Amino acid sequence: MDVALKGFGEVVKTVTLRVRRYDPEKESLPTYMEYKVPVQKGMTVLDGILYVKEHIDPSLSARYSCRMGICGSCGMIIDGKERLACQTQILELKKDLIKVDPMGNYKIVKDLVPDLSKLFRNHEAVKPYIVREEEKPTAEYLQTPEQREKYGMFTDCILCGACLSACPTSAADELYLGPQALAQAFRYISDSRDTGFYERLNVLDSKHGVWRCHFSGACSEVCPKGVDPALGIQLLKEVLTKNIFVKYKQVPSPVGPERKSVVETS
Ligand code: SF4
Ligand code: FES
Repeated sequence: MDVALKGFGEVVKTVTLRVRRYDPEKESLPTYMEYKVPVQKGMTVLDGILYVKEHIDPSLSARYSCRMGICGSCGMIIDGKERLACQTQILELKKDLIKVDPMGNYKIVKDLVPDLSKLFRNHEAVKPYIVREEEKPTAEYLQTPEQREKYGMFTDCILCGACLSACPTSAADELYLGPQALAQAFRYISDSRDTGFYERLNVLDSKHGVWRCHFSGACSEVCPKGVDPALGIQLLKEVLTKNIFVKYKQVPSPVGPERKSVVETS
């Protein structure tokens, strides 16, 4: 039995997947193709796409890996909203015709496969790791549950890129850092073990940085992992507002063993 239909039981309905097709190396404009897919209880949109690939059109391209909402590979716009294809039950959409588009605000590699280079570049730009002044840690950096609570939600990000796809500022400003990277900047700056605020300041306080967010909230509406990037960005603005005078008054960054994280001291 084919992969898409294996183990799901009887077919309960047929839906049409209306999928955007585009090969930028061969075509100047995208087109839409419609595929009829037999649906069984439990089938996801990704299963439907795999059915199309196996039975109707093997040239359809999509990206996926874990098929369990962990790897962040299968983000696409399904029925008008950014979702993970492997986590979207076809029957729960309650539609006979389901439109499937690649995520927005990215270049397209082919069909439903976006080029996520921009997302990863922005992520890297905010130094998404613990920055410490000590060159050689001598012991484990301890943290209380309350300290972890400050950033806990933001550790759930799986880098799927749905938030950047939905963000109107990212649509208008190609160089905008975007909700994923800014929320991760807050995640690390608010970590009691991190002392890298001033190393991140230039990129955050740039014309493509945190102040470009107009708080539309679209990022948080679409995040499939329940992260609230819009909240992270507003909290980041608060941290910057409380600490940014250091940059403009040319006061040297506080250094030394007594230094605490910016969030703790603000
Ligand atoms: S914040 Fe949510 S939507 Fe954005 S990349 Fe992370 S998991 Fe995906
Ligand atoms: S395939 Fe991994 S999140 Fe969907």
